[in-house]
Amino acid sequence: MSTTEEMLEEQTHITLNDGNVIPQFGFGVFMIEGDDATEKACTEAMGLGYRHIDTAHAYQNERGVGAAVAGSGVPRDEVWITTKLWPSEYGEGKTSAAIDKMLDRLGTDHIDLLLLHQQFGDHIGAWKDMEKAIRDGRVRSIGLSNFESERLEEVLEAAEIMPSVLQVECHPYYPQHQLKERIARYGIAIESWYPLGHGDAGLLNEPVFVELAEKHGKTPAQIILRWHIQEGNIVFPKTTDPEHMKQNIDIFDFELTDDEMARIGALDSGKRFFNVPLEEQERTLGAFVPAD
Ligand SMILES: NC(=O)c1ccc[n+]([C@@H]2O[C@H](COP(=O)([O-])OP(=O)(O)OC[C@H]3O[C@@H](n4cnc5c(N)ncnc54)[C@H](OP(=O)(O)O)[C@@H]3O)[C@@H](O)[C@H]2O)c1
Repeated sequence: MSTTEEMLEEQTHITLNDGNVIPQFGFGVFMIEGDDATEKACTEAMGLGYRHIDTAHAYQNERGVGAAVAGSGVPRDEVWITTKLWPSEYGEGKTSAAIDKMLDRLGTDHIDLLLLHQQFGDHIGAWKDMEKAIRDGRVRSIGLSNFESERLEEVLEAAEIMPSVLQVECHPYYPQHQLKERIARYGIAIESWYPLGHGDAGLLNEPVFVELAEKHGKTPAQIILRWHIQEGNIVFPKTTDPEHMKQNIDIFDFELTDDEMARIGALDSGKRFFNVPLEEQERTLGAFVPAD
């Protein structure tokens, strides 16, 4: 087990297409309920060396993230905060006001990476306000989440500032190689959600992960997370289990060989864990309005 100092030194970074440098590994807080639990989990994570937190307005825990960062003693410019706008906040003028509220909830004067959470609503109007927020310094990088339909190209055509990242479901069963080819010429980085298959036992217990875990003296989850790093994905597993939290960040002291990466690559089966058609997402998720 590496020390916190070693983990801080070993962690890898990615230079985005706008020149900003993001820690490739971070901490996701989806489904950590409420600000208190989120503050506690983020405080523990930062104590272990996590320097990148992925939240969203829809998770309803941005205040907890902000409180943990403020109380951590870590300088603000050494922590990367990503958050996401919900479709109810999309639209020129409306999005700009929503960003101000986000800054208030997070208790910070800038957001490192701001994403459109879902690919419906007035995404083009929202993008214009996000570009404005870059220009006036409220936001450093902007990107998309879940834009896998032709709406991705709609944003790319309308954008004056290109998205830096595209956050999508991505794991060894669904490694997103086609999407990566589609965005390669824009220099957009892939961020993996459900990096551990949302904790799916079938994925975690795949024989290849069990075997490689034994060989490298790691756990199957660490093998999967290391695969993400070597695939070039930005990754932020969620956990509230202290042991998992320590394990997940302890993936920078070993490497998978090309042959091992290829064996994991063979698990690509097209299986997604979130499989709701876009129209249904638009109807169900679109009806949700997160509280301020
Ligand atoms: N943009 C989007 O629409 C979107 C959608 C989903 C997620 N996300 C982002 O991606 C992040 C990660 O996704 P996720 O949280 O849904 O799924 P995930 O990170 O793939 O999996 C989390 C699950 O895995 C378990 N787990 C974590 N570490 C483990 C380990 N070392 N060994 C065994 N089990 C482990 C956790 O349980 P314990 O807590 O018990 O450890 C939890 O049940 C989210 O937190 C969020 O930031 C974004």
